[in-house]
Amino acid sequence: MKRTKIIDLYKPELIGSTVDVMGWVRTRRGNKHVQFVALNDGSTIKNIQIVFDMGHFTDDELRPITTGAAIHVTGRLVESMGKGQTVEVQAEKLEIFGTADPESYPLQKKGHTLEFLREKAHLRPRTNTFGAILRVRSTLAYAIHRFFQERGFFYLNTPLITASDCEGAGAMFQVTTLDLNNLPRTEEGKVDFSADFFGKPTALTVSGQLEGELGATALGAIYTFGPTFRAENSNTPRHLSEFWMIEPEMAFYDITDNMDLAEDFIKYCVNYALTHCADDIEFLSQMYDKDLVDRLKFVVEHDFVRLTYTEGVEILRNSGRKFEFPVDWGTDLQSEHERYLVEEHFKRPVILTDYPKEIKAFYMKQNDDGRTVRAMDVLFPQIGEIIGGSEREADYDKLLARINELNIPMKDMWWYLDTRRYGTVPHAGFGLGFERLVLFVTGMTNIRDVIPFPRTPNNAEF
Ligand code: 4AD
Ligand code: MG
Repeated sequence: MKRTKIIDLYKPELIGSTVDVMGWVRTRRGNKHVQFVALNDGSTIKNIQIVFDMGHFTDDELRPITTGAAIHVTGRLVESMGKGQTVEVQAEKLEIFGTADPESYPLQKKGHTLEFLREKAHLRPRTNTFGAILRVRSTLAYAIHRFFQERGFFYLNTPLITASDCEGAGAMFQVTTLDLNNLPRTEEGKVDFSADFFGKPTALTVSGQLEGELGATALGAIYTFGPTFRAENSNTPRHLSEFWMIEPEMAFYDITDNMDLAEDFIKYCVNYALTHCADDIEFLSQMYDKDLVDRLKFVVEHDFVRLTYTEGVEILRNSGRKFEFPVDWGTDLQSEHERYLVEEHFKRPVILTDYPKEIKAFYMKQNDDGRTVRAMDVLFPQIGEIIGGSEREADYDKLLARINELNIPMKDMWWYLDTRRYGTVPHAGFGLGFERLVLFVTGMTNIRDVIPFPRTPNNAEF
């Protein structure tokens, strides 16, 4: 079909030409002489105004043009006299693709709450808000690939079905083709997984990192970008059961190189969105968060603060602040603590390093103090943890000792340990939660609103 996207109608060179516009009706108003339709086709937050001269059209012809209907208009693109738009289309021909019964169309009215729209996740992409969010999300995904490709990183696809539990969190979705109503049993009465599809228990991955390390210790620098699954029962505005993660992994990188990369990476993405999604970000800022643009620019323009977990805990303990969860050396930080450091104490993004080994994963490089590991978490305003990463333990014996200490079964780990057995190198990497980045850039406050079809406990409808 010959069609001009609405985003292109706003380029001056098309003025005076005849165009074919296709999209969904946002509103219709007017009188018996002239009718105005605001049309949107998803290519931009901007609508195009279509003007129907009622000398040429009958009321019957225009009757199907209600909010949500899909139409095709052929007409001349002209400069607009009215205020609020620079150009408009003077309709010459109308084709109705699909009507939307005003009695039942759920988005008939404007100004629905985000909660209401979550219940209508199958239609919410047609709203201004979700159009803007989804365009920003897509642009950020492109920026991520650009950032790494420009720097010679290779895109590595790691498996979604895995037999190992990278983060040791134990919160995995099992994958099986066994008949749950009629499970095969071993002689001891346990489920016989040798009869399962892969001949052993498998689950959806919580991280592509371990396989990423195999790639990095061959190609030098890789990144993954794919879906990740966590079966934690956490109903917070920052957790999804299915989210997207970007995990770069680099040979010959220490923790400082890793922090530098993480900081450059986030700044690049935020800046890319500011430049390429200006209209959408401006819209979201006006609708939801007046400080959004300033906050984004601030992050791009300022250095992140770097300090150790131990120093961070000291600041929190001396803050005089009553936290819901008390802080002590050795406890995991909650988002209230992270946000205090970022939003109130330093007033800028923070990278915390050298966490107690007990609260971090087995693969992190052990420091000489015997108590801490070379972990790094990047903490952001409004978000809390946006990145988690570390330098990796490259020493075979130390890594094996830690695996044994934590009773991680060797049968799951032999292939990972081979990276340390053959040509081991210092290396490091991190994981960025894609939706947390989209949350930050769009100024939204609930992670369910920045992924098209959120998966959370008890929610897999659409
Ligand atoms: O800190 P995490 O658990 O780190 C890892 O998975 C490492 N393997 C990463 C690495 O070093 N390659 O997760 C990384 C990031 C978090 O900082 C957070 O942004 C995001 O993933 N994340 C989630 N996002 C949404 N919903 C959840 N349930 C998330 N869990 C983690
Ligand atoms: Mg983490």
